[in-house]
Amino acid sequence: LRQHDPIFLMSQQQNQSSWIITKYDHVKELLKTQSFIKDQSKLFSTSPHDTPQDEMTTIFQNMMLDVDPPDHTRLRKLVQPYFNPKTIKNLQPRIEDIADLLIMEINNKKGKIDLINDFAFPLPIIVISELLGVPAEDRNKFRRWSNTIIAASDNMATDFVEDVQAFTNYLTRLFEERREEPQDDLISNLLQAEEEGEQLNRTELYSMIVLLIIAGHETTVNLIANTMYALFEHPRQMERLQEDFSLTENAIEEGLRYYSPVDFSTARWAEDDMEFHGKHIRRGDLVLASISSANRDECKFEQADEFDITRKDFQHVAFGFGIHFCLGAPLARLEGKVALEKLLSAFPEIRLDEQRQEPNWRAVFLLRGLENLY
Ligand code: HEM
Repeated sequence: LRQHDPIFLMSQQQNQSSWIITKYDHVKELLKTQSFIKDQSKLFSTSPHDTPQDEMTTIFQNMMLDVDPPDHTRLRKLVQPYFNPKTIKNLQPRIEDIADLLIMEINNKKGKIDLINDFAFPLPIIVISELLGVPAEDRNKFRRWSNTIIAASDNMATDFVEDVQAFTNYLTRLFEERREEPQDDLISNLLQAEEEGEQLNRTELYSMIVLLIIAGHETTVNLIANTMYALFEHPRQMERLQEDFSLTENAIEEGLRYYSPVDFSTARWAEDDMEFHGKHIRRGDLVLASISSANRDECKFEQADEFDITRKDFQHVAFGFGIHFCLGAPLARLEGKVALEKLLSAFPEIRLDEQRQEPNWRAVFLLRGLENLY
């Protein structure tokens, strides 16, 4: 597609066409155009046109990812201080403790492990739960609800309505507890902002927490597991890393590029009719950026299909670009680095279980992650 039809018409209906953009430069252009919003010359919006809101969908339509400035700017500003690189750096000792604890549990189990269930999933969900102030022991519930919500982007899962309701009820109870007894956590601070009435309303509050719980773990589990899988597939790269742990940050960047944990951006809607690199896009058309494809674009990256942790240029778009650039990037990078260092130091002989079949990629449209990694 990158070579022959880089702006690919995925489907065409009378009122709306859907497009996929695959080249690195075009992807950046698409994701960047929203910043022109101030001059009223916004070309693409993340907010769907003319979609009726009901109780179930408002929770998504009020997420910062799905709104444009000025609402986007206001919502992002509320939580940005918690995710700045400096604030995140202070979490390092706690992230290391959690990783040590999980490794201890793995050691107690002995034998074969599923790197996803035993390590890559619990690590980020415990970290984000503690940061938000939700009980980490409920993580399997979040996993179920997140999975259903993410599957809904493919086809409306039958459990969707039920699970969104359960998630909302769970948060309502938790908010009541935190209102009665505020803690030093992000939820208590957002509740205070909601009570003060000007910074965010009730639906935005629910949307924010749902987004942070889902984005805070569904992606990082893939970063850890995908990078480990790429290292297993490339034993020479694994050796280089084990000889020199100062390459860990590079390995994480290459993992982000090579097996990008998020395959596609969220949807962009065209604000006007326009020509986009030779294709006629109409107002209301849906456009998706293929992040995975952009990150393998041979016009941008030398030997793009090779996994090489010693690359000099890591300007990938795995965390997006423009005003919706990933809020959690510093946290994800730190979790990835701690995870790799701890795993490879604790288990220098770690290798894939060859008696099992090739690991399966999860059949989810937006994300690139493995079902299990034994
Ligand atoms: C946005 C990827 C981890 C929170 C995004 C976007 C991408 C992305 C591609 C932009 C989507 C778009 O423009 O349509 C990733 C990857 C991660 C990761 C690959 C891990 C490896 C996290 C974590 C958090 C987080 C740990 C934690 C809290 C967010 C939020 C947004 C976002 C809130 C929306 C930002 C906005 O609309 O301004 N992420 N993410 N992400 N991410 Fe992440």
